[in-house]
Amino acid sequence: MKIVDLPTIAIIGPGKVGTSIGILASRAGYQIAAIGGRNKERTIAAAKRIGNGVRACSISEAAKKAPIVLLSVTDDAIEDICIRLAEQKKLKQKAVVVHCSGALSSNVLTSAHDYCKCSIASMHPLQTFPTIDETVKRIKGAYCFCEGDENAVSIIEQLAKSIGMKPVKISSKSKTLYHAAAVMACNYLVVLMDSAIRLAENAGIDRKTAWLSFKPLVTATLDNINSMGTADALTGPIARGDIKTVSRHLHELSSVDGVLAAVYRTMGLYAAEMAATKGTITTKKAEKIRTLLKKV
Ligand SMILES: NC(=O)c1ccc[n+]([C@@H]2O[C@H](COP(=O)([O-])OP(=O)(O)OC[C@H]3O[C@@H](n4cnc5c(N)ncnc54)[C@H](OP(=O)(O)O)[C@@H]3O)[C@@H](O)[C@H]2O)c1
Repeated sequence: MKIVDLPTIAIIGPGKVGTSIGILASRAGYQIAAIGGRNKERTIAAAKRIGNGVRACSISEAAKKAPIVLLSVTDDAIEDICIRLAEQKKLKQKAVVVHCSGALSSNVLTSAHDYCKCSIASMHPLQTFPTIDETVKRIKGAYCFCEGDENAVSIIEQLAKSIGMKPVKISSKSKTLYHAAAVMACNYLVVLMDSAIRLAENAGIDRKTAWLSFKPLVTATLDNINSMGTADALTGPIARGDIKTVSRHLHELSSVDGVLAAVYRTMGLYAAEMAATKGTITTKKAEKIRTLLKKV
């Protein structure tokens, strides 16, 4: 059954996020007026996945069709596409124009406001979306950081809630730093796991065994962070102040890839600061560990 007072949406960018939001918003009762893309085949495929008779068309055709325009294109394309649509008056007057980038604020959509009196916002679903199927599953329960004009934000908060996300407000000037934090939590976790596996390979353990043996350790660590917070979850030689062990690690690391050693040293510097703040080592010991870690 359609919920009559939900606004109609046009989606620009038939990629993972655009298609998935289209599928979920359509299921939640929103009418998706059109999906627009630069590639005809990919746009038609996305329209088919969204279903409910969604039209596949060009970017400028789609933009004109709804009072909410979701720009789910890559970060680098958002501003240029918005300028093009706004200058050519391809947006409805007073439409709500939204993008999904984590690093950019709604300021990149200013042209829509200037040329077409649109209100502008950004909504960033804080999840990792490798495929459309995964995105559709993972959007539910994800936090969605929103900022922009008040009217636009209240509309996207409603959209976010309707498709199962938890909207959170963020200030426009904090977007890039917020995104850098998310990159560390997500992408750098992958990097950290890969560097641990490569170190294990250097120790003669094959990749598969390395990951299978690390998995319970990683899962337990995440559980500990969840139940007791990061400070209490920190264990190991630096938290204990075992300087000789750290020294032995550094000695062995000197014979492996320099980047791996640099990752170990940098994370160790942060671990020493955490351990000193927590009080499991003295500030004097933390300083000794830091000096050791900085020595090349
Ligand atoms: N993936 C994630 O984990 C994730 C999570 C949260 C937020 N986001 C944000 O969501 C937005 C979309 O990301 P995504 O993962 O859905 O990317 P994606 O799957 O790569 O899709 C990007 C879409 O943008 C279109 N596009 C790129 N450059 C264009 C241009 N110059 N002109 C017209 N269309 C262009 C692509 O068109 P073609 O199909 O023709 O190539 C594609 O349909 C980004 O702002 C991203 O930061 C992504």
